[in-house]
Amino acid sequence: MTETSTCRICEGTVRRFVDFGEQPLSDAFRDPSDETEEFFYGLAVGHCSGCDMVQLMEAVPRERMFHEGYPYYSSGSTVMRSHFQTTAARLISEYATGEDPFIVELGSNDGVMLESVARAGIRHLGMEPSASVAEVARSKGVRVREAFFEKATALEILEQDGPADVVYAANTFCHIPYVDSVLAGLGELLVPEGVFVFEDPYFGDVIEKASFDQFYDEHFFLFTATSVAGMARRFGFSLVDVERLPTHGGELRYTLAREGRRTPTLRVARMLQEEARRGLTSPAALRAFADRVRANGDRLVGELRALRDQGKRVVGYGATAKSATVLNFCGIGPDLLEYVCDTTPDKQGRLTPGSHVPVVGHDRFTEAYPDYALLLAWNHADEIMAKETGFRDAGGRWIHYVPEVRVV
Ligand code: SAH
Ligand code: TYD
Ligand code: ZN
Repeated sequence: MTETSTCRICEGTVRRFVDFGEQPLSDAFRDPSDETEEFFYGLAVGHCSGCDMVQLMEAVPRERMFHEGYPYYSSGSTVMRSHFQTTAARLISEYATGEDPFIVELGSNDGVMLESVARAGIRHLGMEPSASVAEVARSKGVRVREAFFEKATALEILEQDGPADVVYAANTFCHIPYVDSVLAGLGELLVPEGVFVFEDPYFGDVIEKASFDQFYDEHFFLFTATSVAGMARRFGFSLVDVERLPTHGGELRYTLAREGRRTPTLRVARMLQEEARRGLTSPAALRAFADRVRANGDRLVGELRALRDQGKRVVGYGATAKSATVLNFCGIGPDLLEYVCDTTPDKQGRLTPGSHVPVVGHDRFTEAYPDYALLLAWNHADEIMAKETGFRDAGGRWIHYVPEVRVV
């Protein structure tokens, strides 16, 4: 695995600081009868000293990840459904104020956010290359175009629908290595005072919680306010607002506007100062992170082996994309986990990518509670703990690995 690569933002040198080895596609749940060779790529993460951006050393071609069989449905979490209802209401009240406003979403998935916009009767368009989830959005009355957003498709939207007042993207912009094309497209598509609002996992939380499984094929960038402000400037935008979100284990919501068109809020300056004070991407912080990743991985495997040797039943909870990183990095397979339960029909009856643990429905979990459950969907811990009191009452215990390995 190479030690350096070229930065996607500034073309500077990206230096590797952690290496997770060969990894499968995180959302490629396998049919047990599939005998074709599984695809692997090298997952290592680097930092660019030129523009401070944290990014993967190798990009997986987008069509391998986002296609008609994409199995991640955003509406699978009650907390996230309500988060996106609130978000829609805010986008509408803040930006859909003119006559006949137009809202565009990148990565609209199953319509979890845009369904509220559609219900409000507001002109909208979801850009969503994965047919599986786009179809569900359409069934909710959402207007979707099955395509990747980039400069060429932005120009097509502009021609068909005219300019957009706001473009929104949740957990999607960080999936896109070709930011130059996307930001050029936004430069064409947005009205002069228009904004690009996006939210993604925050590298500040990754460092704080050692949540290393935020790194996988789809998460090409892990942003900070500092790196986003620099990226925006390079492409003619500026960071005009930033907000912390509790979703997905800690995220930031960023608002970009064309340079000089909107005045940045005080929050931006405060966040930049806080990041500088914390030294989020200092060589020492990155080294300490890599050390913690190795130590936590070793402890987790040690714990699971000890439980197996005691004859305990241990399962995984939530067949998340991020768990591909922890399972494959630690070498956790069907010898250590009996199954992983997940509520997504498209994942059930399949095997977890690379590690080949059977994915089963949630009823398997409640029918005969195991002794231990490894919380792979740790970013939904509050929601899951609240509804799985029966497991605790039956004597079951949770295994956490973020921010450190704990059995509770
Ligand atoms: N916004 C949803 C979905 C996130 S998953 C949520 O927060 O839950 C990321 C989504 O982005 C996937 O549905 C994927 O198909 C889509 N995607 C990937 N590249 C894209 C691009 N260039 N333009 C638009 N959507 C894209
Ligand atoms: P998530 O952590 O949102 O994203 P990613 O796949 O990008 O890491 O995935 C959550 C997964 O967990 C999804 O497959 C649905 C599943 N899930 C359950 O099985 N039960 C639950 O109560 C919740 C909230 C999620
Ligand atoms: Zn750079």
